Amino acid sequence: MIETEKLTARRAAAVATSAATTHPLYIARASGAELWDVDGRRYVDFAAGIAVLNLGHGHPAVRAAIEAQLAAYAHVAFPVNGYEPYIAVCEALNARAPFADARSALFTTGAEAVENAIKVARIATARLGVIAFSGAFHGRTQLAAALSGKIAPLRTGVQPLLQGVVHAPFPGHGTDTEGALASLDEIFHAALAPDQTAAIIIEPVQGEGGFVAAPREFMLALRRLCDAHGIVLIADEIQSGFGRTGRFFAIEHHDIEPDIIAVGKAIGGGLPLAGIVGRAALMNAASPGALGGTFAGNPVSCASALAVFDTIEREGLMARAEHIGAVMRNRIERARTEPGFTAIGAVRQNGAMVAFDVVDAPGRISPARTAEIAARARELGVLFLPCGYRSSTIRLSAPLTIDDALLDEGIGHLLAATRAPVTADEPA
Ligand SMILES: Cc1ncc(COP(=O)(O)O)c(C=O)c1O
Repeated sequence: MIETEKLTARRAAAVATSAATTHPLYIARASGAELWDVDGRRYVDFAAGIAVLNLGHGHPAVRAAIEAQLAAYAHVAFPVNGYEPYIAVCEALNARAPFADARSALFTTGAEAVENAIKVARIATARLGVIAFSGAFHGRTQLAAALSGKIAPLRTGVQPLLQGVVHAPFPGHGTDTEGALASLDEIFHAALAPDQTAAIIIEPVQGEGGFVAAPREFMLALRRLCDAHGIVLIADEIQSGFGRTGRFFAIEHHDIEPDIIAVGKAIGGGLPLAGIVGRAALMNAASPGALGGTFAGNPVSCASALAVFDTIEREGLMARAEHIGAVMRNRIERARTEPGFTAIGAVRQNGAMVAFDVVDAPGRISPARTAEIAARARELGVLFLPCGYRSSTIRLSAPLTIDDALLDEGIGHLLAATRAPVTADEPA
C-alpha cells in the first residue's frame, strides 16, 4: 500500500475533491481486461474505463494505428486544414448510420457531442425546447447536465441551468410505456408545445441510469411523435454504441431511424473522440464554423477509431458482446436462487451491458449495500462502477475482448462480494 498512500497524500494536496474517484487506487499498467495498481495488485476490469475499452487495454491494432499516426503528425486542427483520418471516421460513421444520406462531425468528449446535437436540432428547426428523460445522463457541461435527468451531483448548486429543457419520465423508472407516453402528452399540453420542441434526446439503453433499455413500443411511439410534429429525434449512444449491446448501435434493436446519433467513449479506443452522425439536411443546417473545436477530431484519436471500427467487425465483437452478457446474466440469475444472494434484485442485460439492482430487503434498493459490494469486490480483485437512477445498481462493462477464463474469474469475485456472510441457520 506504500505507493497508494503516497499518491493519496499528493492527491489530497493537489486535486480538487470534486474530481472524485470510485475506487481508492492508482493504476500502473493495463493489458486486455486486466489492471495492475501501483502496489502490484491485479484486477479484472469490468469497468473498461466507463465502457470505453471495448477492445480492451493496449489492443495491438489500436497501438499500431496510434503509433503510425504519431509518426506522421499528431495535431494540425481541422478548422485550419483537413486530414484524411477525420474524413475516414466520418465515412465509417455514415456507413453504419441506420438512415440514408448521413453526414458527421467530430468532437472530443461525449458532452460536447450532445451539446452539438442539440445545437444542430435547434438551428435546423428554429425552435428552443428539448425533452430529455428521468435517469438520463448526457454529460457534465451546463447543457449536457441540464439534460441529465438526475439532480445530484451534476446539477446541485448550479440550478436553474438552461431554459427550454423539460424532463419526461423514462419507462422503467416508476412508469411503463403507456404511463411515459401519457406524461409526454401532458408535457405537450402543460409545459412545452410540440411546435416549440426542437428535439427529444434519449439513450436507447440508459447507461448511468442503470442499464435500462427503452421499450421498443416506446421508441416507435417517439418516432411517430417526432414525425408528426417535426421534432428531431436524437439517440445518445455514447455508452451503448460500438457493439456493446450486440449491435453496432443499440437503436438497431428497436428498428427505428433516429435523426441524429451522438457517439463518444468507445469510438476512440481509449483516446478522446466523439461525434454526431445525422441526416444531411439537419447536419448541414448550421453555418460553416458553427461546429468544431481546436482538438475536435484529433488525428491520433481518428487513427485509433479507424482501428476500432475495423476490429469490432474483424474479431466478431458484437457476437462476443452477446456471449459475455449471456454468461454474466446466467451466473447472476443462478446465484440469485442460491442461499446468501438476497442482495440481488432485478437483473438486466442488453448484450454486454449487464446490471443488477442491489436490495437490502425484497423490493427495497440500497445504495449503501451497493457501495459495500463494489468495495468488497475490489478487495477480491474485480473493478466495476455502480450506477443507477437511485445509485443502487451494479453495472458490468467488461471489454468485449475479454476471454472466458477472465470473465469467469471476474464474475466469481463479484458473486463472492455479493454473497452475504453465511449465518448459522443457513447452509454454506
Ligand atoms: C450516455 C452518455 N452520454 C454522454 C456522456 C458524456 O460523455 P463524456 O463524459 O465523454 O463527456 C456519457 C458519459 O458517461 C454517457 O454515458
